[in-house]
Amino acid sequence: MALLMPPTARDIRVNQPLPRPVFDVYGHCLAGAGEMVETRRQADFLLRYGRVEYGGLDHTLGLDLEEFRDDPFEEIGHLGLMLQDLLRHACADPVGLPERLMPLVARLGSTVERDPESVLAAVHLHQALPLPAAHGLRTALLCDTVAAGMLLDRPWRRSLVCAALTANVGMFRLEDRLNRQQTTLTPEQKHNLRAHPYHSVELLRSAGVRDPRWLRAVEEHHERFDGSGYPRGLSGESICFPARLMAVADSYEAMVGNRAYRRAHSIHDAQRELYARAGTAYDPHCVAAFIKHVGIWPPGAVVRLSSREIAVVVARGEPTTHPVVAPIVDAAGHRIYRVEYIDTGDQGAPRIKGAVPSDDFRADLDPAPLWGYRSVPGWRR
Ligand SMILES: [Fe+2]
Repeated sequence: MALLMPPTARDIRVNQPLPRPVFDVYGHCLAGAGEMVETRRQADFLLRYGRVEYGGLDHTLGLDLEEFRDDPFEEIGHLGLMLQDLLRHACADPVGLPERLMPLVARLGSTVERDPESVLAAVHLHQALPLPAAHGLRTALLCDTVAAGMLLDRPWRRSLVCAALTANVGMFRLEDRLNRQQTTLTPEQKHNLRAHPYHSVELLRSAGVRDPRWLRAVEEHHERFDGSGYPRGLSGESICFPARLMAVADSYEAMVGNRAYRRAHSIHDAQRELYARAGTAYDPHCVAAFIKHVGIWPPGAVVRLSSREIAVVVARGEPTTHPVVAPIVDAAGHRIYRVEYIDTGDQGAPRIKGAVPSDDFRADLDPAPLWGYRSVPGWRR
């Protein structure tokens, strides 16, 4: 069988016959060509879990096989290595940074467009990425997912992603040290931390960056809505919109990620903190947009079901209070090695009872098969 890839909205329309067959990730036919898609829920299901044959150059999508990278988890790992090299190189010799960054930004954007569910899963399962590039890459992935959900245009998204990826380039070595440091900051470290937006902008200018939206977002990414941020103490809408959105994504990523000096916050604690500080630290519109597009139960969240199973969220639901989940531990506490999806919005389906720390399962969880990118020998279905 040809390579299978996720369908697009052009392939699956309510009250229209399917133009081509839709398969599951294992190549079993879910619906044949010509079959009618009768409900929105059927369409959503096929869009989320279906795969269509990909036969080389696809003019409808503007992708070719050379550019197509099937597994987003692998792709995000490659992007992390690229970013790490690029930032390290930029500290020694900034010239050419924008040209070297653009292929990474293009690949990141196409990964977000192709499969935002897997992108969010990689963020929330804390996919291993090289430090200190990891924080910038995850923040950029979150920003671009939210920006894509808000239907912001491509040049705007590009500036936002460039800013998120390079916001801390002015303290690349310090950030690496701080991620590992378990003691309080020295006065010199504090000074450098507060000055890093200026240092980053200075380095980007010397690298040849001329995009004012990119530069301004980097300079203002630690400003706070109530004027309590740094370096200039700007407030409200005098802070540019990309910086206000980055502030939310940057703080959320820092909260849900592990650091040497503390364990990760749960997703709900992080969301509660964003809501609690909406209108003070953060722009309330940015907080609302962020949570709407990331989801109350984002992909990668580990949850306990009313059936007493433990499951991982694989797709944001409609509404996001009712996501699609895949059980990973049964009610008796045994690990499940088959892939099965439950739409918690279905009548009679188990309900989500609460979050479970994902740390307990992360080491044992290979995400690619759960998101339909690879089957593993021995997995049943
Ligand atoms: Fe920063």
